[in-house]
Amino acid sequence: ASVPVAVVGAGPAGLMLAHRLGRAGVDTIVIDTRTRREIETTQRAGILEADAARDLVETGVSDRILREGHEHEGTELRFGGRAYRIHFKALVGESVWLYPQTDVFIDLADARERDGGAVHFGVRDTEVLDVTTAAPRVRYTASDGSRHEIRARYVVGADGSRSMCRSLVPEDRRVRYGKDYPFAWFGIMAEAPMSAPELVYAHSEHGFALISRRTERVQRMYFQCSPDESVDAWPDDRVWETLQARVAGDDGFRLKEGAILEKSVLRFRSFVQEPMRWGSMALAGDAAHTVPPTGARGLNLALHDVKVLADVLVRALGVEGEAALDDYQPRALRRVWRAQNFSHWMTQLLHTAPGGSAFDLRRQLGELDNVVGTRAGRAYLAEQYTGWPVSARA
Ligand code: DHB
Repeated sequence: ASVPVAVVGAGPAGLMLAHRLGRAGVDTIVIDTRTRREIETTQRAGILEADAARDLVETGVSDRILREGHEHEGTELRFGGRAYRIHFKALVGESVWLYPQTDVFIDLADARERDGGAVHFGVRDTEVLDVTTAAPRVRYTASDGSRHEIRARYVVGADGSRSMCRSLVPEDRRVRYGKDYPFAWFGIMAEAPMSAPELVYAHSEHGFALISRRTERVQRMYFQCSPDESVDAWPDDRVWETLQARVAGDDGFRLKEGAILEKSVLRFRSFVQEPMRWGSMALAGDAAHTVPPTGARGLNLALHDVKVLADVLVRALGVEGEAALDDYQPRALRRVWRAQNFSHWMTQLLHTAPGGSAFDLRRQLGELDNVVGTRAGRAYLAEQYTGWPVSARA
């Protein structure tokens, strides 16, 4: 097959890019090694910036988010056994939407089907060839065993945090920036009533915890654990005891408990590869950068990448030609590093480092006090959490 843009990776980045290009009259073929079912059932974050939520509706992906999502005008920070509300709407006039990434994916996959976009799940043996020429190719084996080749003008690597596309940028022409953390998240899905009206980000001397939700009856919660933790060592009682201790305080706050449906350990790191474009190939989303989950920036950042990339690709396929691609990295990367900073900041603000001293803990409480106790501190958190404006055309 021959198509202007071939997309490797059918997560939210790849599918939203294909959707945006489709609206501009540009055909795509999207492939992914995972099955649709695998992607749908892999739990990811749940917070969308207001702009990202608006884009899903206004570009015609779906308006389900307006019916099934929940607008949150603020969030709660807990530390020193007390709760502090950060009122995004009052501070910076913005809000966020609680709407799971798995639902964003379902809406996008359905929209591709509805609009007749080509998406092939469950492929094998993907090869991306000739990306430094004007005629790159993508080869793959389809789920029925047949072998295919896509001839494209441009290839987009939206193939996630374990991207193979990013390794096509030669080692001596790329730089990888990264940071590891000495902790991970233990995530659970629980069939229980809501414990709080908004998300709760909790700092405690025992470590971080986050109380989120999926539906009225299914709650999503996380607590900081060791990166080599195994779920087998965590019977339900121990999970609840740990979570309760992390959110406990003089105000008597307690989580409403219930049956635990799912447990997993999420390891994470901060990572950026530059350049985000190599010849006829561009990288988008986690393939180019990953962030720690605190603050839920990953999906939002990926959606910003493809908003810029769709614009740039449409121009590159028109009279401007390949030179239009030069705009991609400068417009995308600025937000990448802002999000890297915010995700790192929010992580260090709320997690306790193993082996940390009494000084470290008290300094951290001082920083939290500065955040909630000053208008500038609250506004900073609100502004960063709700997102940044789309980078103007360079
Ligand atoms: C969720 C995950 C996050 O990392 C976050 O900051 C907020 C919410 C979630 O899974 O709901």
